[in-house]
Amino acid sequence: MSGEPTRPQVDLLAALVAEARVAQARAYAPYSGFHVGAALLTKSGRVFVGCNVENASYPAGICAERTAIVSMIAAGERDPVAMAIVTPGKRGGSPCGICRQTLSEFARDMPIALVGVDGDKEARRDTRLAALLPDAFDFEPEHDPRSRKSP
Ligand code: THU
Repeated sequence: MSGEPTRPQVDLLAALVAEARVAQARAYAPYSGFHVGAALLTKSGRVFVGCNVENASYPAGICAERTAIVSMIAAGERDPVAMAIVTPGKRGGSPCGICRQTLSEFARDMPIALVGVDGDKEARRDTRLAALLPDAFDFEPEHDPRSRKSP
């Protein structure tokens, strides 16, 4: 036998799940009663959390995943590398279509842990953004307004 002993892999997603659970407890969801928490790890190593924030005018509510993204952008970061989402239930809820598209603006792909919390039970399944939203909408280079020269 030779070589270095294998170092245990740090489970980044498990650490994010713990942060998402803290954020879930802060959800403002008096209308649905469905509390969601999210945590995003960025390339620089920072973690941004989000929770759903509902409103008496229902469509004004925002999902946990998007509040995490908004918080990341407002802090000056743009490169998420991993995410955890925690919902109530036996099987973690999957992010809605709008959130998938919002995430795809900043990450083509990244690992995502989906966690369902049911009493003292926690069920986790790991997936990826590219699996949740294959063929995401984006501009072809020649039509990309982001590469337009300023007028
Ligand atoms: N919700 C999220 O926060 N994330 C999702 O991906 C799906 C749904 C929130 C929105 C609303 O506040 C509640 O869950 C019920 O739909």
